[in-house]
Amino acid sequence: MATKVIVQLPGERDYAVRIGSGVIGKLGQSLREIERFANARDVLVITDSNVAPLYLAQVKASLAAANFKAADITVPAGEGTKDIAVASEIWSAMAQLAFGRDCLVVALGGGVVGDLAGFVASTYMRGVPVVQVPTTLLAMVDSSVGGKTAVNLAEGKNLVGTFFQPSFVCADTDTLATLPEREWRCGCAEVAKSAVIDSDDFFFWMLEHAQAMAERDDAVAAEAIQRCVVFKAGVVARDKTESAGVRECLNYGHTLGHAIEACTGYGTFSHGAAVAEGMRFAVRLAADVLEESREAISEFAEAQADLLDTLGLAPLDYDATPEDLLTAMKRDKKTRGGEVRFVLARDIANWEIVPVSDEAILQALR
Ligand SMILES: NC(=O)c1ccc[n+]([C@@H]2O[C@H](COP(=O)([O-])OP(=O)(O)OC[C@H]3O[C@@H](n4cnc5c(N)ncnc54)[C@H](O)[C@@H]3O)[C@@H](O)[C@H]2O)c1
Repeated sequence: MATKVIVQLPGERDYAVRIGSGVIGKLGQSLREIERFANARDVLVITDSNVAPLYLAQVKASLAAANFKAADITVPAGEGTKDIAVASEIWSAMAQLAFGRDCLVVALGGGVVGDLAGFVASTYMRGVPVVQVPTTLLAMVDSSVGGKTAVNLAEGKNLVGTFFQPSFVCADTDTLATLPEREWRCGCAEVAKSAVIDSDDFFFWMLEHAQAMAERDDAVAAEAIQRCVVFKAGVVARDKTESAGVRECLNYGHTLGHAIEACTGYGTFSHGAAVAEGMRFAVRLAADVLEESREAISEFAEAQADLLDTLGLAPLDYDATPEDLLTAMKRDKKTRGGEVRFVLARDIANWEIVPVSDEAILQALR
């Protein structure tokens, strides 16, 4: 069974996120049902080298059945593909195909393909529509919704990009069957993050179903995805361009998480494992920094640890000095005026964004 979440953002067209088993097979038909695509013809499907052999034929067949003329480009899998040189090759290919402003870009893959294809679409001829077809748990619960697009620079990740909302999101939960276990857990960390920041209702539902989620139960995964999308759409509706101090909450666990990834070498730990460690740290730091009883925070810390453990996100044993981690945090693009800002949670759905002094960070890290 498929469900639909409508994302409504100020100053943007509403768009639907369709979630469920087999929804890729109806992609072409779903697009035809969107009024402004009724007469569209040219589609470019951008995918990666792991996803292409698994799902590209299915997507193209669905588009062809709805009379779209679909070309495709397969980029190498991996973060290195979020590069302006790759974007430039795709722009050129689109121009050579004589694609006009009435074309459509379909991003078939994880967050890497989603960010890259979104960036390409948002800039080709000053913007052509993009449709996200996420195939990782992380992309379904987070990156495919909300409109952030990006490529990386040698100087840092996601330093060049745009805010550009998709026209439709098609999250086929059947595609998760082929996702490697490491990538599954990576997505689980973002699910846990959303549950903590969102509400008691989401958190305790997730805690109750964490074992089933870790075992990749289809129905639980579909509901977790839906809850995450509703949560993220709500956050983005309040702060589309991360300028109102709300969207930053999605960074919960990421401040230390990114520093761990940078200091231990990207890929040593998965992004999700590092974020989960960052969530544990954020609670320890909250106990030091926020004027809150340690007892109240420790109850929440235990519940969060329970959720992360059950999702298979154990505490990390990593090798990096507090000083190196702090330096990495200060290089993060989310640092402002030299002060590191943390999303600190004192309880479920009770968080604030706080600039924290170097001394307090070092002390908590030690
Ligand atoms: N735009 C946003 O709001 C946002 C939010 C969070 C993360 N991101 C970005 O997302 C990226 C990470 O996304 P990701 O974790 O999806 O990584 P990814 O796109 O690299 O995918 C992970 C791996 O899984 C493979 N894969 C994808 N779908 C598969 C499937 N169904 N079966 C088998 N293999 C499959 C991919 O080829 C890749 O090797 C980062 O670049 C990050 O910056 C963006």
